[in-house]
Amino acid sequence: MAKYRIALMPGDGIGNDVMDAAKIVLDKIALDAEYIPADIGWEFWRTEGEALPERTLATLESCDCALFAAITSKPKEEAEAELIPELKGTGLVYRSPIVRLRQRFDLYTNLRPCKAFKGNPLNYRDDIDMVVFRENTQGLYAGVEFHPLPAEVRAALEAHSPNMAAFSGVSSDDIAVSTRIFTREGCQRIVRVAFEYAKKFGYPTVTLVEKANVIRETSGLMVREARKIAAEYPGIELWETNVDAMVMWMVKNPQDYGVLVSSNMFGDIISDLAAQLVGGLGFAASGNIGDRLAIFEPTHGSAPKYAGLYKVNPAAMLLATKLMLDWLGETETAQVLQQAIADVIAEGKARTYDMGGDSGTLDVARAVAERL
Ligand code: IPM
Ligand code: MN
Repeated sequence: MAKYRIALMPGDGIGNDVMDAAKIVLDKIALDAEYIPADIGWEFWRTEGEALPERTLATLESCDCALFAAITSKPKEEAEAELIPELKGTGLVYRSPIVRLRQRFDLYTNLRPCKAFKGNPLNYRDDIDMVVFRENTQGLYAGVEFHPLPAEVRAALEAHSPNMAAFSGVSSDDIAVSTRIFTREGCQRIVRVAFEYAKKFGYPTVTLVEKANVIRETSGLMVREARKIAAEYPGIELWETNVDAMVMWMVKNPQDYGVLVSSNMFGDIISDLAAQLVGGLGFAASGNIGDRLAIFEPTHGSAPKYAGLYKVNPAAMLLATKLMLDWLGETETAQVLQQAIADVIAEGKARTYDMGGDSGTLDVARAVAERL
């Protein structure tokens, strides 16, 4: 039996292109692993009414971790319109499979390193090294939402919040509510993971990105818990920021920041900004990490217009593979892979179109593999 069981979920669009790139590198690394392909994506939504089939969840139950590439997500009405005729009007609701995977397997940490690689012509500055920790299971993405607003929910809100008076003249049919639920434990665990990372890798600060001056209860809870946890890490300073000002500072002085921690939605937003500062989504990898299972993915989407053209940059997918190796404890191999990616970027010969080159996705993967 192989040492590791790893699920491979290419998903949609360019997901297949970049997964092929990852396979070239994994072949070369020759980990003692069994790779199990698993279904996920738009095609399964259309034909089965389920983008994340039960059989895929069962596969993941039996795996140590997974590599996931990309998936197409569309708003409610468009998703319904693309179902096969037999499934239309049956009340199926599309919810992003990756968001559901994060919740289902309690993958509460979303780790998103954004480091400027030397020689990348797309760097905003060459001295950027930010690592975003995004809470991955709660907040605005928890899916507790209403439209129309049910009478009982409305009555409860009115009974408990005087601020509901502002909406008193509006019909419940015309009110949509998306809740932002944080738990104390949810705040504590993501902040703790960020501080542990800062300690392990020698970052002097952890920057909390919230909006506690306005969103007093949820952001407020996060800030209060973060202060308690910070007290356990005397060598590391907690910087408290508001998300609006923070995006400005991230553009003005990105080199001043290291470890960032935030809730689900703000973390989603600031991690795209951080990615753009180091070359865009083509360089942004994430780890969705829980206590038992972890799923690694490039942060980019499925880019349908490039699907199957093998044109897109595989760097994010290869960096996701590197994060997976780290998580498995294969730290030396992870380091070698990161160095190979860095060397290919610095050398500048194998470059995809986003970097001004004309190499294909797999050419870049082969150039990386050759250095391993
Ligand atoms: C990400 C993506 C997802 C998210 C989408 C595809 C649901 O933007 O991983 O950042 O919002 O979390
Ligand atoms: Mn995102």
